[in-house]
Amino acid sequence: MTSTASVYLTVENNRVLLDWGHGVRGEFAALWLADNRSEDRHANGQRLIDIMDLPADVCISSAEVKGDALCVQFAQGVPAFSRPLSWLRATLGPLRAVRAELDRHPWLEGARLEAMRDFAWVDHAQFTADAATRGVWLRRLARDGLAFLAGVPSVEGTVVSTCSLMGEVPHTNYGRLFDVKAVPSPENLAFTDLGLGLHTDNPYRDPVPGFQALHVLVASPDGGDSLFADGLALAEHLRRIDTAAFEVLTRTPVAFHYRTPDTDLCSVKPIIELSVEGDVRAVHYNNRSIAPQRQSAEETEAFYRAYRAFATLLREPRFQLRRRLQDGELVVFDNRRTLHGRTGFFSQRHPRHLQGCYLTRDSVLSQAAVLP
Ligand SMILES: [Fe+2]
Repeated sequence: MTSTASVYLTVENNRVLLDWGHGVRGEFAALWLADNRSEDRHANGQRLIDIMDLPADVCISSAEVKGDALCVQFAQGVPAFSRPLSWLRATLGPLRAVRAELDRHPWLEGARLEAMRDFAWVDHAQFTADAATRGVWLRRLARDGLAFLAGVPSVEGTVVSTCSLMGEVPHTNYGRLFDVKAVPSPENLAFTDLGLGLHTDNPYRDPVPGFQALHVLVASPDGGDSLFADGLALAEHLRRIDTAAFEVLTRTPVAFHYRTPDTDLCSVKPIIELSVEGDVRAVHYNNRSIAPQRQSAEETEAFYRAYRAFATLLREPRFQLRRRLQDGELVVFDNRRTLHGRTGFFSQRHPRHLQGCYLTRDSVLSQAAVLP
């Protein structure tokens, strides 16, 4: 073992072990070191070599700390590795420590929360004028799955111009911008006075819309309250209280379908989607677009039991954050996680008008990462 300053270096089993003290340790495999030389990346950060350019059995011949860098020599003519210790230390720990979208804060009992107190709220003028304000707001949106703006001008189209500062606004079969108001012969129940149960949007699309924004141009004084629930927290809650139902919802393929005379969209996905680590990655729940199940009767019965267990949770008021959004308020939510709904209203007495758009997921998360 050698030490320089407060870093202790050991080579064991063809690995370099670095110990910074206070429990901070890193173990670096020979092939990983050979594969991560700074010289093998272009100035733009992209890799210049392929893994097959290296022998599978790269062997460390010596390793030492020189100044503030780790220097490793390899056998087999593999070029040497030299990187600052700080660079190696920064590779330790989970990715969620440096990516806001992975550091998610679940909120199970939404009824205990107040939108204005517990989620990001920023005035539109400040949001548009200040990049740092946008960065902080977007990182909270990524973390909490829900964020609000106030003082948004009640001018049609403002939802798109505002959201263009957050990421990319895609064009869908609903257009780039859609009006949420009662219309005759609606092609979607969203365009009626009906209340809508908690759901995620467009699970028939692949990928699903990453984020959704809704801007209130004219609020209804009686009804039309917005409802939100954290699907991530609810899925984890289901995992705790009814593990069998949770597992059925993670492994049952469900087809979602949307069809109009000029659109036919279909996608198959589980209601609870897991990451490779087994974490809840997304929730897809939309009673209006779920297609008939095509499994055995036995599998279908198990699915219905699990589906109803989850649907029961969605109907519990304690899990719902409720707010009657006011004129000039704009809400953005993570459509892979945050379920939304509304109570009914009576548009012939009080017209209600919202405008909405979607945002691509990766563009929003990129803005959250690059803004100060
Ligand atoms: Fe919706």
